Amino acid sequence: MSTPTTRAVINVDLGGPVINRHLYGHFAEHLGRCIYGGFWVGEDSELPNVGGIRTDVVEALRALDIPNLRWPGGCFADEYHWQDGIGPREDRPVMVNTHWGNVEENNHFGTHEFMALCELLGADPYVNGNVGSGTVREMSEWVEYLTRDGDSPMVRQRKANGREAPWRVPFWGIGNEAWGCGGNMRAEAYADEARRYATYCRDHGDNKLFKIAAGASDDDLEWTETLMKAVTCLSCKREPKKFFQGISFHYYTVAGTWQNKGQATEFGDDDFYRTMIKAADIDRVIKGHSAVMDAYDPGRTIGLVCDEWGTWWDVEPGTNPGFLFQQNTLRDALVAGLHFDIFHRHAERLIMANIAQTVNVLQAMILTDDQGGLVLTPTYHVFEMNKGHQDATSLAVHLPDGPAPIDVNGTALDQVTASASRKGDTVLISASNLSLDSATKIDFDLRGGGVREARGRILTADRPQAHNTPIDPTDVAPVELDVRITDGHLVADLPPHAFATIEFDLAT
Ligand code: AHR
Repeated sequence: MSTPTTRAVINVDLGGPVINRHLYGHFAEHLGRCIYGGFWVGEDSELPNVGGIRTDVVEALRALDIPNLRWPGGCFADEYHWQDGIGPREDRPVMVNTHWGNVEENNHFGTHEFMALCELLGADPYVNGNVGSGTVREMSEWVEYLTRDGDSPMVRQRKANGREAPWRVPFWGIGNEAWGCGGNMRAEAYADEARRYATYCRDHGDNKLFKIAAGASDDDLEWTETLMKAVTCLSCKREPKKFFQGISFHYYTVAGTWQNKGQATEFGDDDFYRTMIKAADIDRVIKGHSAVMDAYDPGRTIGLVCDEWGTWWDVEPGTNPGFLFQQNTLRDALVAGLHFDIFHRHAERLIMANIAQTVNVLQAMILTDDQGGLVLTPTYHVFEMNKGHQDATSLAVHLPDGPAPIDVNGTALDQVTASASRKGDTVLISASNLSLDSATKIDFDLRGGGVREARGRILTADRPQAHNTPIDPTDVAPVELDVRITDGHLVADLPPHAFATIEFDLAT
């Protein structure tokens, strides 16, 4: 039997909105071994490091072109007092990280260390301030400490701690999950708090803060609506003023229940498909938030920010339940590919997203151990293969016919998902085959421009449970994909459970 064909039509001369590079953002929380043992080993470590930051981790991440890094949480952000994390490390107070494992936090990784990490990665800092247990003054002074030039109490303190020039901090979070760990507030109460805190987060000198209000969980559209009502000060005497420029929401792919999320590496076909259905549902969630925002902001001046997303499984057996350490299989990579296709389609409103989290926590790029081991996960490879979409112009991919959707307990799952973008004369296509047993031949019918040369890469394995370990670090790694050019069409074979990218130059 011949392989069924999926036809995909792309008009390469009809660009849509630009795919903001910040959709490829990251998240690093003081949680488990993300910071300590992941990024941070300390200057005295035997592992190669730059000022305490692990060299191999930075080198691996630099290949992803990480546009921004969110820190210090998550839930931790609303317990964090930044003054504890500056000055000589031996003098910094110890606190208890009550959210994550009830372990002691020695504050050795603080503001200066985070900013150094961002500089090493070439990433914009996204600092998440404390609303839940902090004060307006504390947040306002943190902004001053980081971004003010000249002379002021905070500037003097920064200089005394060894940093002369102000840093550039483009992104600022006003609390996190205010409906839960960030203070258990009701939407109206938080909206007022967000306005109050944002008022005192000043733009110092040239530094313009893009302030992000802590948004909804999943499809809590009422939360978004309340924030949209609160975003503008209509009664302000002078020009109406926007208190914040972005509103976030969080969406995790939890295929089971929160009590029983399922294992990262041991799963059956049903679990796999349920995961894909849950991942695909972010499309509905984004549409919902966007529709609410459109009603209040038709000109799309406020950005939607998904600053936590990714798979969330039961922790690996024998590990601290509060550390959220999980393995990462080809299934996770397919969730990432599917999310990016959806993010690209919503590029007009969705301007930023942050995977949770970069190292050793949840859907990580990198898994490390204390002996110096480092593993790149299948999800890492999706970020690397997709990086050409950053700041490219989106191109719609039409799939007019192809394999019938997969019936997952009454819900339809598209077998093939794809997205594309164009930067200059280079086009990048991403495509996934989500079937566990059917291959497809994908035939890209390109309109509005010819193909000169095409290069393909594919990420797959003999089973969706495949993952990388220190013993077998490349069980899931990209290899070359054979791409044929026939009559202006690009044709490639996608085996089951596969993610692929095809890049080609337009004939001019
Ligand atoms: O990413 C882990 C946690 O998930 C974050 O701290 C919190 O914001 C969310 O509930």
